[in-house]
Amino acid sequence: MTTLLCSEAVSAREDPQPCREQDFGKFEVVARDGAARLGRLHTRHGVLDTPMLLPVVNPNIRTIEPREMWEKYHVDALITNSYVAWKHEKLREPALADGIHALLDFPSVIVTDSGTFQSYVYGDVEVGVEEIIEFQRDIGVDIGTMLDVFGRPDMSREELENAVAETAARAEDSLVAAGENLLLNGPVQGGLHDDLRAQAGELMGAARGEFRGFAVHPIGGIVPLMEKQRYRELFEILLAARSTIPPDRPVHLFGCGHPLLFPMAIALGADLFDSAAYALFARDDRLLSPHGTVKLAEITEWPVHSITLFPHTPAQVRAMDKDERSVLLAHHNLEITQAELARCREAVRNGTIWRLAEQRSHCSAQLRDAFLWLLGQMVDPDEGPVGQTVLRHIASTNPIRGNSEVFGEEIDSRPHILHLNALLAMRWRRPGSWWNGEDGSAKRVVLLVGAAPPWRDSALGDAISALAEEAASIILISTPLGPVPFTLEDVSPWCHIDGPDDLWELVLTEVEMDAWIEDLGLAGIPMEVHVCESSSDETEGGAERDVIRSWIDRCAVVDKLSLLCGIEPAAACELTEGMSSRRSRTDRMVNVFVDDEHLFSPRLTDGALSLTLAGARRLHALNPGTPTCFTEEIPVEDRDHPGIPRILLLEDAIPFVGQGRNVMHGYILGADPHVIIGQPCLIVDESGELVAHGIANASADDMAFFNKGIAVKVRDGARRD
Ligand code: GUN
Repeated sequence: MTTLLCSEAVSAREDPQPCREQDFGKFEVVARDGAARLGRLHTRHGVLDTPMLLPVVNPNIRTIEPREMWEKYHVDALITNSYVAWKHEKLREPALADGIHALLDFPSVIVTDSGTFQSYVYGDVEVGVEEIIEFQRDIGVDIGTMLDVFGRPDMSREELENAVAETAARAEDSLVAAGENLLLNGPVQGGLHDDLRAQAGELMGAARGEFRGFAVHPIGGIVPLMEKQRYRELFEILLAARSTIPPDRPVHLFGCGHPLLFPMAIALGADLFDSAAYALFARDDRLLSPHGTVKLAEITEWPVHSITLFPHTPAQVRAMDKDERSVLLAHHNLEITQAELARCREAVRNGTIWRLAEQRSHCSAQLRDAFLWLLGQMVDPDEGPVGQTVLRHIASTNPIRGNSEVFGEEIDSRPHILHLNALLAMRWRRPGSWWNGEDGSAKRVVLLVGAAPPWRDSALGDAISALAEEAASIILISTPLGPVPFTLEDVSPWCHIDGPDDLWELVLTEVEMDAWIEDLGLAGIPMEVHVCESSSDETEGGAERDVIRSWIDRCAVVDKLSLLCGIEPAAACELTEGMSSRRSRTDRMVNVFVDDEHLFSPRLTDGALSLTLAGARRLHALNPGTPTCFTEEIPVEDRDHPGIPRILLLEDAIPFVGQGRNVMHGYILGADPHVIIGQPCLIVDESGELVAHGIANASADDMAFFNKGIAVKVRDGARRD
C-alpha cells in the first residue's frame, strides 16, 4: 500500500544532460561560506551539485529503486560496489553487456567503490588493482574508485605508513587504467595521524594518469570512528587531509551519511557523503533525524516530519509487516537526509553554515565535544596541518556580512568574526591628526556605551561632543563583540547583531577589555566611559560640528581602506586629503569625491567600500607592479598593509576582462595571497598595468588551482573603448 502510494506520487523527471566535453571532470564552486562550498562536478551523466549524499545501493537488495530515488527524491548520484558486481556473474554479465546505468535503471551519476571496504570487513579481496579499474571503466561508471589500502584507526604507525605508501604506489597505474572516460576517486588514508593524512593528501593530489589526476578525494578509513561516534577525531582527520588536497577537487567522507554530521562536515569543507544508513537503520526500526537517531519502539508521535510518515502514526507503523515497515522507514530516512542537505546548502548560500553547525553541536555529547575542540583550534590553532587548514579557513571567509548575525555564546569564535577582528587588530591605526589640524598623540580614549545601532542615530552626537571637548580623543563604540572605532559604526556584523535589547548594554569584563584595547594599540591611553544619551542632531555649534563630522567621515574612509583593502593608513590619509561626500536622504555618506572625482562609495547594506574605476586607479598607483606568479615561490607577506590585492591575468583574457567581463578561473597567472573573498581587488597585466577591478570570488589558493568558475566579479574594465 505504501509502495503504491510512493510510486503514484512519482512524477517524471527528465534524464540529465551530459556535460560539455571541455568541462568533463571539472569541479567549480558557485557559492561559498568560508570552507563550505556549493560546487558542481561535471560528468557525462549530468552535473553533480554538491554538497550531496550518494545513497549506497546494493545491486542485490534494492530497498528503494534507483529510478525512484532519482525521480522522487532528486538523488542525482548514487554509489554501488563494483567488486560485488564483478564477483557475481549474474550482475557482471548484464553490467558488461548493457552498462551499469541500465543494470540499476538510474539515469544520472553512478559512483562505484572498489572492494577495499570488503577487504576491511572480510579480509583480502581477490581482484587486481588494474582489473577492478578496467571493470569499472567497461561497465560505464562515471566515478570509479581505485583499490586503496584501508587504514584502520587502531593500526600501528608503521602499518598506516604502509597503507598510505601502497595506496599512493597504486595511484598512477589506476589512473592510467581508467583511461579517458572514467573519473576516479583517490582515497586519502593515514589513520589518526595528522601528518600521514597530510602526506597522503599530497601524494594522491599529485598523482596523474595519461588524461588527468583524481577527480575526487574521499577520506578513507573513518567508518570505525563513526561507528563509535569519535567525531572529534573524524573532524581532525578532515582538517589534516584538507591541508594538502588540491582545493579544486571535491572531498568525500567515505561511509559518512548521518544527517547530524552534515552541517559541521560541510562547514569544514566536505563536499560528498555516502551511506547505506537510510536502509540499514530502517531495517533496524530506527529513524534518521537532523538531531540524531530515533527508535521507532520509543515514540508516540513523530519527532521529525516527512511526507512518507505523515499519513501514519508510530503505532500503525510498528504494526506493519517487517518488510513493508523497513521500506517505509527507508523512504523516510532518505527524505530526511535530502532535506537536511538542502538546509545545509541554503545555509552556505546565506552565510549561516557555521551557525547551523553550532546549533547541531548541541544534539550529541560527542558532537559537542568535537565542536568545542574546533573552537579551540579556531582561537589557538595547532602548529601542524590542522592549524594550517584552520587558518586558511578563517582567511577564506568574507568578514563583512549584510544579513544580521544572531547573537550566541560562541559568536566570537565564528570564523568570519575572527577574521574581521583579526583585520581590526592588525590593520586599524589611531588617526594621524585630529579634526582641529593638530597631530600630537591621543589624550584619551572615549568608550561610548549603552547605545544600540544604528549608532549614527544613537551615538553620533555623543561622539561629536566628545571630540569637541577634546580633539585628540579616540572614540570607540561598545558592541557585544568588543569596542570598535566609531568610524566603523556601520560595518556589519558589528552593527547588525540580532539579540535582546539589553545586548547593547553588555560590557566586557576588565580582562577582555584590556585585551581589546591592547589589540587596538591603545594600551596606556587614559580611558573614559561615556553613557550615550543624546541623538545625533541635538548637538549644538553648527560650523564646528560640521568640521568634526567631515573629519569622522574621512577617518571612516581611511579606516575602511586600511582594513579591507590593505592600504597604509598614512597613504589613505593622503589620498583622502580634501575629500567631500554626497549624503543620502537618511544622512549617510554614499559617494566620496576627491578633486571632484568620484572614488569610493560606502556600501549601505554592510558598511564595506565599493571602488569606482577612478578609485581603483588611485589604489593601483599606491601598489603598482604584479603579484608573484603561482609557478614561483610566493614570498611570506609580513606587512600589515600590503596594498590592495592584485590578480595577474593571462594575456588571452585581457580583451574581455578589460571590457568588464568577469575573470574566470584558468586565466590567472598569479594573485597576492592577501586577497579577501567579497572585498575589492585589482586585475593587472604582466607589465603591471590595470585591466579591471572587482570583487574577489575566490581565495588566492583557489585561483592557483581552479579551471572553471568565476574568480573575480568584475565591476569595471579599465580598457573600455
Ligand atoms: N568505504 C568506506 N571506507 C572506505 C575506504 O577507506 N576505502 C574505500 N575504497 N571504500 C571505503
